[in-house]
Amino acid sequence: MLAASRRWRGDGLEIGLVPTMGALHAGHLSLIERARRENGILVVSVFVNPIQFGQGEDFERYPRDPARDADMLRRAGVDAIYRPTVDVMYPPGSSTRVHVGGVGDPLEGAARPGHFEGVATVVSKLFAAVEPDRAYFGQKDAQQVAVVKRLARDLDFPVEIRVCPTVREPDGLALSSRNAYLGTVERAAAVCLSSALRLAAAAYARGERRPEKLREMLCGLLDAEPLARAEYAEVVDPETFTPPGSLAVLAVRIGATRLIDNHDLSKEFPG
Ligand code: PAJ
Repeated sequence: MLAASRRWRGDGLEIGLVPTMGALHAGHLSLIERARRENGILVVSVFVNPIQFGQGEDFERYPRDPARDADMLRRAGVDAIYRPTVDVMYPPGSSTRVHVGGVGDPLEGAARPGHFEGVATVVSKLFAAVEPDRAYFGQKDAQQVAVVKRLARDLDFPVEIRVCPTVREPDGLALSSRNAYLGTVERAAAVCLSSALRLAAAAYARGERRPEKLREMLCGLLDAEPLARAEYAEVVDPETFTPPGSLAVLAVRIGATRLIDNHDLSKEFPG
């Protein structure tokens, strides 16, 4: 991968990287299409990263469909698919982990111990392998964006992080590979995440700024859905992920499926 990247760079081409775990959907494609427009060379990585999954999480059953992914990526005009095996990414004996302190610690960091270390480690290794000029991440995973920006700065990766808006289903549900786990009844219940964000954004637009009130609104709507159990619902600063702020962040279990979503309440909720 690195040899190919350096050849392209030697030819004066700029390289865009879109890191993914595969099971591609229209959310991924929005990043890929933007990266395609903005770079001479487009690399998409497909790697289900074992070290960002905790004990008892869904690493084994995470959806994998390499043939379908490759087909979608060819159609999207990518120049290279980087699909390392686990042994190539983490050879026996590899033990270094990247810990992003501060922004990586609360919320997702607290709910999924080790998750952001896994993300930060693999993203660092992808940056080292591809040496991209630009890398593309989705606002869907808002705290991941903050973690990746921090690590790129702190470890001096000469890469520009570009953030793309969350792609949603018509009813508001954010696209996610994990939506495939939802049964029909759960799928209907899962709309409660975006409904809660929409409700809080409307209150914010009417002038409500008290974090407790906004939080109560989020929790009220989630609690009203019998299949939903909120892990957290907070309104935080988008840089530090601590209150106060205008970014509403949610992690909710719908049955056994854990979904996350977020919205900057100072902006109108789409749709
Ligand atoms: P994955 O969940 O496959 O997502 C890859 C990228 O697509 C992430 O930047 C994510 O934020 C973005 N994305 C997912 N759903 C989206 C949606 N509905 N709208 C817009 N963008 C969306 O995130 C990961 O993989 C991994 O943690 C990774 C960064 C690849 C490291 O392993």
